[in-house]
Amino acid sequence: MSTYSPIIWKNNNLFLLDQRLLPHEEVFVEVKTLEGCVAAIKDMVVRGAPCIGFSAIFGMALWTNSTKTLNSASINKACDDMIAARPTAVNLAFEVNRCREIMLGELQKGSSQNDLFHKLVAFGNLQIEESEKKNTAMAQFALNDLKKRVNKSKWNLMTHCNTGFLACGSLGTALGVISLAHRENKVEHVFADETRPYLQGSRLTAFELGKEKIPYSIVVEGAASYLMKNGKIDAIFVGADRIAKNGDTANKVGTSTLSIVASHYGVPFYVVAPISSFDLQTSSGEHIEIEMRPTEEITQIKGVQIAPLNAQVVNPSFDVTDYKFITGIVCEKGFIDPSIPGEVERIVNS
Ligand code: MRU
Repeated sequence: MSTYSPIIWKNNNLFLLDQRLLPHEEVFVEVKTLEGCVAAIKDMVVRGAPCIGFSAIFGMALWTNSTKTLNSASINKACDDMIAARPTAVNLAFEVNRCREIMLGELQKGSSQNDLFHKLVAFGNLQIEESEKKNTAMAQFALNDLKKRVNKSKWNLMTHCNTGFLACGSLGTALGVISLAHRENKVEHVFADETRPYLQGSRLTAFELGKEKIPYSIVVEGAASYLMKNGKIDAIFVGADRIAKNGDTANKVGTSTLSIVASHYGVPFYVVAPISSFDLQTSSGEHIEIEMRPTEEITQIKGVQIAPLNAQVVNPSFDVTDYKFITGIVCEKGFIDPSIPGEVERIVNS
């Protein structure tokens, strides 16, 4: 477990660990305004679906504290501006819409601006605090299922992108399962996808695995088939940015390819995510908006041009994994078998 959170609220100020500088520098930046928070989310100072949502709550608190016009129109505009920062991770809209509800409710009750500010701060702190319990619950559900499916004393596990405390502010989702398994002495080795182009795997997941002394190797995404064909992977755990009603799951680009290879080789493939990552309003994956990121994330590495200067680039930041390639979706309420129609909705609403 981490000794610090990537999101710190202290003396009415918001500090975010600048994840762009990891793993070589651990620097916190102060965020002072709603616009500053939107920029920090867009520019990936803070990233990972749950942490984007938590930071946004504090961004809304900062706005409440400083705005000269607090009415329903200005509240709705501020919330919408925040939600627009990144479109795919539904956790952002989930948390901001809960802030909207609190703010509009308090406004109607005639609460003061200061009351509203403190309510939002308390709400933000509570979400981060509760995420530890939720992450632990989902990790336990996932491990119980894996123990039934793969009867070995220790497992070789694979993961994609970054889903630990840097993404979640606590134990983590997919990486939370791996951490818990490690504490039970059940992890032989972890294969962490490098996660092109932003390298969340080699920069962030490797950093987190190292902190916990979990044995790992970084692999390029293209190595997945080699590893699975040679029996080197017992199970794969990934997180989620948006899970549609039928179980189709948007996650970091490359997740879908991994799921198809896993299905081909019969390797269990799990999605681990909190309730805030589910979007029951979206019937299936084709309706999920996929964020397109800047060209330079692909053509350059740390500011050094790699591709030809005039190279054309397509940079979708996420893809959608078809529910039929997912062995199980695990949330804090339990295990979901997405092949059973209506099961996502049943568990989420339970
Ligand atoms: O673009 P990022 O780094 O915010 O993408 C993060 C991911 O795709 C994670 O896998 C996802 O948010 C799950 S985090 C628990």
